[in-house]
This record gives sequence, structure tokens and C-alpha cells, in this order.
Amino acid sequence: MSITLALFNQSGGVGKSTLTMNLGYQLAERQRRVLLVDMDPQASLTTFMGLDPDSLDLTLYNALVDDETTQTVMDLPIQPDIYGMDLCPANINLSAAELVLVSADMRDVRLKDALEPISDRYDVILIDCPPSLGLLSYISLVAATHVLVPIQTQFKAFAGTNLLLNTLARVKRRANRKLAVAGFAPTLFDARRSQDERTLKAIQDRFTTVAPVYDPIPWSTGFADAAEARLPLALYDKRHKAIASLSSIVDHLEKLL
Ligand SMILES: Nc1ncnc2c1ncn2[C@@H]1O[C@H](COP(=O)(O)OP(=O)(O)O)[C@@H](O)[C@H]1O
Ligand SMILES: [Mg+2]
Repeated sequence: MSITLALFNQSGGVGKSTLTMNLGYQLAERQRRVLLVDMDPQASLTTFMGLDPDSLDLTLYNALVDDETTQTVMDLPIQPDIYGMDLCPANINLSAAELVLVSADMRDVRLKDALEPISDRYDVILIDCPPSLGLLSYISLVAATHVLVPIQTQFKAFAGTNLLLNTLARVKRRANRKLAVAGFAPTLFDARRSQDERTLKAIQDRFTTVAPVYDPIPWSTGFADAAEARLPLALYDKRHKAIASLSSIVDHLEKLL
């Protein structure tokens, strides 16, 4: 079995790209074959993985949009073996894809079709969605078998989750009936703040009936420091306290394989 997991939340700064890289790293450490797909024009994941988005000639854009001269679509460009993972990178060109695809045929399945020929090379494909409910997120959810929802443990983040669940329901109703919610990952959790505790409890109460609510990912400057060093957290600080939370999420994901 293999899975294609979209990390989806329309809010920015909730830890999607950070989780994508770190869950991917832990899966690779467990000998899983991992592909990361950067679907965000802001290309944080591509940057976190140590590439310079602006210097890339070929990105995911080329596999989503027809080449104007040949009218064909390119294969997915893949950067192999970065910390044991493969990466399909993005850069700002991807924001143009959103415009071009609005009027393109079969637009909903463009990412799904691009992944199809290479999917048997991987056990896990992780798609890092952009912070929006737009077309790039939509086609990510169409390409996915599962969705993982990071939710910041702050009240305003919690308030946006109805919109998020409606979007998932819409995708399931129309374009991807089999899409399953793998789980909810509370993020940026600061146990010293009573409102974080309260929001965590609210997230658990609200979502446990939908899918597993994972152990919270603690707020820690280690994540930003590791990102700045272009390293997965476990390579930056192998004894970091957040690694246990990441591992427990990976335990859940491995049950889907
Ligand atoms: N658990 C965490 N604790 C502290 N900072 C974090 C944590 N997770 C992510 N960050 C930092 O927060 C910022 C946003 O994270 P990112 O993963 O890019 O979010 P998103 O992809 O949802 O926009 C980054 O600077 C990242 O280093
Ligand atoms: Mg991101």
C-alpha cells in the first residue's frame, strides 16, 4: 500500500511546510520511500529543503501546465535524495498556474495525472498545500488519498475549521469520493499558555469523532532554527523534545501503509 497525503489548512503559518518536511524525514528514516511535493508558490518547503526557488528552471509548474509550443505536459521534475527524500520543488511561477488552469481542461486532475506515472516508486507522497482554499489546494485534495490537517492551538485558528471541513466535504462529494481524513495535528502548542490548553481540548472534543487528533506539536524555536539551517529538526537537534510528537504522528501514518 502507498498513500498520498495532503497537508491542508487554508491558514498560513500553522506549520504545514514544517510538518511536511519533518514527517517526510521520519518516514524516510524508517526506510519508507518518500516524495515531497511543494504546491505553494511561496515555496517554503523548497527553501526549507535547501534549494533556491528562484534559481530553478523546472518546477511543479511545468508538470501542471501545457507547454505552449509543444502542447504537451512535462513529467514531474524531481530533485532526488535530499535527506533521504525526493522533492518536486516549486517557485513563484506556480501562482501563474492557478490562473492558467482556471480555463484548462481536466484541470482538477492535473496533479493526480502528474503523480500517477511515478506513484509506484514511493510509499508516501506528501503534498504541502498553499495557504488558501483556491485551485492549487483543490487539485491537491483531488490527487490525495488522505488529508492531514494541521491546526494551530489558538482560538482564531480553530474558528476557521468549519470552512476547511466544508471544503473537504465538497471535494469528497464531487471529485474524490475516497479521500479520507488521516488525522488532525494540533501545532504551535505552548503548554504555558492556558488558552492553548483550552483550544487543544476544543480541537480534541470537536474532531476526535472525525479522525484521530494527534499529539500536539510543541511551539519551539528549534523548528525555525532548523529551517534556517535548512535541516530537518532531527538532524539539527536529535534530542529535541518535539521529535517524540513527530514520531507518534508517523506511527499513525504507518498504519495506513
Ligand atoms: N512548532 C513550531 N514552533 C515554532 N515555530 C514553528 C513551529 N512550526 C513551524 N514554525 C515556524 O513557523 C513559521 C511558519 O511555519 P510553516 O511550516 O512555514 O507554516 P505554513 O506552511 O502552514 O505556512 C516558520 O518560520 C516555521 O519555522
Ligand atoms: Mg507552507
